[in-house]
Amino acid sequence: MFETLPKAEPDAILALMARFREDPRTDKIDLGVGVYRDETGATPIFRAVQAAEERLVAAQTTKTYVGLPGDLKFCRLLGEELLGRPLASESAMVQAAGGSGALYILAAFIRRAAPATRVWLPTPTWPNHPNLFRGAGLALGDYPWLDRAGRALDFAAAAEALEKLGPGDAVLLHACCHNPTGVDPTPEQWAEIGAIAARRGWLPVFDMAYAGFGDDWERDCAGMRTVIGRVPEALMAASCSKNFGLYRERAGAVYAHTAEPSRRQAAQDGLEAVTRMVYSMPPDHGGALVRAVLEDADLAADWRAELTAMRERINANRRALAEALAARPGGQGWGFIAEQRGIFSLLGLDRAQVDRLREVHGVYAVAGGRVNVAGMRIGDADRVAAALLDVAGS
Ligand code: LMR
Repeated sequence: MFETLPKAEPDAILALMARFREDPRTDKIDLGVGVYRDETGATPIFRAVQAAEERLVAAQTTKTYVGLPGDLKFCRLLGEELLGRPLASESAMVQAAGGSGALYILAAFIRRAAPATRVWLPTPTWPNHPNLFRGAGLALGDYPWLDRAGRALDFAAAAEALEKLGPGDAVLLHACCHNPTGVDPTPEQWAEIGAIAARRGWLPVFDMAYAGFGDDWERDCAGMRTVIGRVPEALMAASCSKNFGLYRERAGAVYAHTAEPSRRQAAQDGLEAVTRMVYSMPPDHGGALVRAVLEDADLAADWRAELTAMRERINANRRALAEALAARPGGQGWGFIAEQRGIFSLLGLDRAQVDRLREVHGVYAVAGGRVNVAGMRIGDADRVAAALLDVAGS
């Protein structure tokens, strides 16, 4: 039977990560996979997470099952941070295995509730989004995101497309720090998206993977909160990989919000039913760490302080790269890098340019020229700028 398997294309981001590891050059720079790096090139464990882990190991007495929805206290604390309010009786939730696990549970939940739903993804989007939604058996559509130059949001085009949708459609929205573009709506545009969703009756589906990496936690969550406040139902997949540095622990959660409390239990049952089918119960450790941090005022304050420092470094890197480009001949027109938010910018490089960037300059970027600005040491800004200008002119 295995001979009938279709050839699986390697995942471009993960393949690049492996290729970077194998590259013997000592001055290589990884702007590929979306992982935060500090000025030494390390991806640190948050101090608060480390302290929580020590406490957890000392206090834990069993590894028996937690239960089908996972750790609901973790889900509630994380959800309240993201929504900025107590989670009322209208919210169903389950813990999930990281952001991708959360998205798959959410996709399977949509399929269970309304199998004919079409899920609309922005163009471009994270390459795993189509896999996850199609893999759950849902039909896909796309809506525009970037303007012709590929630097800013074409809100008129996005809004026009979203106005054509209605009940039976679900729209995937990157809650902040859009991956791969770094291009987010303004608060006014988020309000307009909420108004369109409410008027047209489509289901907003949020992928929230980078809260805290953009402007600040509250502003990063504000657009999503605005939209959720305007619609009768919404879904959210949350990841703790980046903003708690828990990449390999696969900590995430899924939320189904309904303005009609009598539908909450059906949503909870539906989420638990698909979780049981996919992996029975989620892994506990990462969520337990997040819970331990958020439950403790001192650890939570330290986590916030470290997240703030990370965000400041990301935004300083953005400014340094834009300035290094601007200071070089032919380096005008890259100011958008400093304006965008999160760890990614999409530089619109073609395949040959991305290959040259990697092979000649040792600078790794994802296809299309997605760069992770957090992968760069600030002292490397000039070298990266020179490499980008070389390939952009090639
Ligand atoms: C990325 O976009 O690079 C990250 O979200 C890692 C991944 O799984 O693709």
